[in-house]
Amino acid sequence: MTTCHKHRLFNSKENTMKHAKLKESLTLTFSETARRMKHEGKPIISLGLGEPAFPTPSEISDETIIALKEGYTRYSDAAGLPELRTAIAEKLNKENNIRCTKDNIIITPGAKQALYITLLALLEPEDEVINILPCYVSYLPQIYLAEPKAKIINIDLDKETLTLPKEKIKAATREKTKVIIINSPHNPTGKVYSKEELTWISDWAKENDIWIISDEVYEKLLFSNEEHHSIASTNNKTITINGLSKTYSMTGWRIGYLCAPSLIIPLLKKIQQHINTNTCTFIQRGSCKAFSLPETFLSPFIEQLRINNNTLRKMIEQNEKLSYVQPAGSFFAFVNIKNTNKTSDNFATELLTQKGVATTPGIAFGWDDHIRISLAQDKATFTKGIKLIDEFTRAC
Ligand SMILES: Cc1ncc(COP(=O)(O)O)c(C=O)c1O
Repeated sequence: MTTCHKHRLFNSKENTMKHAKLKESLTLTFSETARRMKHEGKPIISLGLGEPAFPTPSEISDETIIALKEGYTRYSDAAGLPELRTAIAEKLNKENNIRCTKDNIIITPGAKQALYITLLALLEPEDEVINILPCYVSYLPQIYLAEPKAKIINIDLDKETLTLPKEKIKAATREKTKVIIINSPHNPTGKVYSKEELTWISDWAKENDIWIISDEVYEKLLFSNEEHHSIASTNNKTITINGLSKTYSMTGWRIGYLCAPSLIIPLLKKIQQHINTNTCTFIQRGSCKAFSLPETFLSPFIEQLRINNNTLRKMIEQNEKLSYVQPAGSFFAFVNIKNTNKTSDNFATELLTQKGVATTPGIAFGWDDHIRISLAQDKATFTKGIKLIDEFTRAC
């Protein structure tokens, strides 16, 4: 169903303070509750996290400490250190088939900020943005904050198969359609868009002169046979968003980047200059190290995701209240809880308080009949958590 949720973020007419009705991030709220319960001594199994389960590679930390001691403590160019932008441009050319130079790259405090400055640069009042549901929690608030008068056209992935609803996208396309946001590998479903789907989006966007924002933060976290493809390799009106949070387990460091066509770089750079000047300089310098690391450090984590997904699949196959489309990437599974007759918020809250298992309610991503389970947990803890979810749902 194609729905327009303009200003869906509001839930009361009384409050007049600017943006006071912006909802808080449900994913962060739930992880904070779980953290608090843990702090109070309650045994909590956390399957809600959006973070990898391994430490930042020591090579990156060591290089960052050296940079700090060597005096990389001052402002950098707003676009970022040239050596880091060069390393990223080389990576994008080599691995992602994106033709770019360092001058197409801007380093940002996290991929989240890359997304936000992109939306600030692109959106004007009355522009329409096609957003695919379910989606990462920050897309809708960021579109609203970037341009409150932009119109958001939410289009659901197919609920049974998670395939791209091409006909609905075509039907929703108008003169005012300015941007589509694509995220692959996908948070929260673990879907990896097929090459055929990405080619379709690329061609459709070209025909209709639409910008693509391609969020690829989970590009390396693939645990099935799917391959990652970057839309910018076939469509140059694409802004690619990426970062080090997920691949290098650097969520707290706040470092991300975007790669954009030259025509929009000056505007993006000006926005960054006025919002945060630059990304932390010694972190930028230390992050250069990431691009020369052999990727073998990721193998144990990817294996862990595969094993945990198998544990989850086996449980779901035996539990008629639950179903899911197998994830292939990111580190999430999105489980259909419709047969429990609970809203996702009630399900997640009761599961947390009764069984001590933290998950994330699907409503945070736009689907209230699902919950998101993070596969990024050690095998024993994950298996215990899945057993408790099984028990909980059977009693629903
Ligand atoms: C799809 C997606 N995009 C962007 C981000 C933001 O990542 P960062 O930590 O680099 O800001 C996240 C974080 O969870 C995400 O899931």
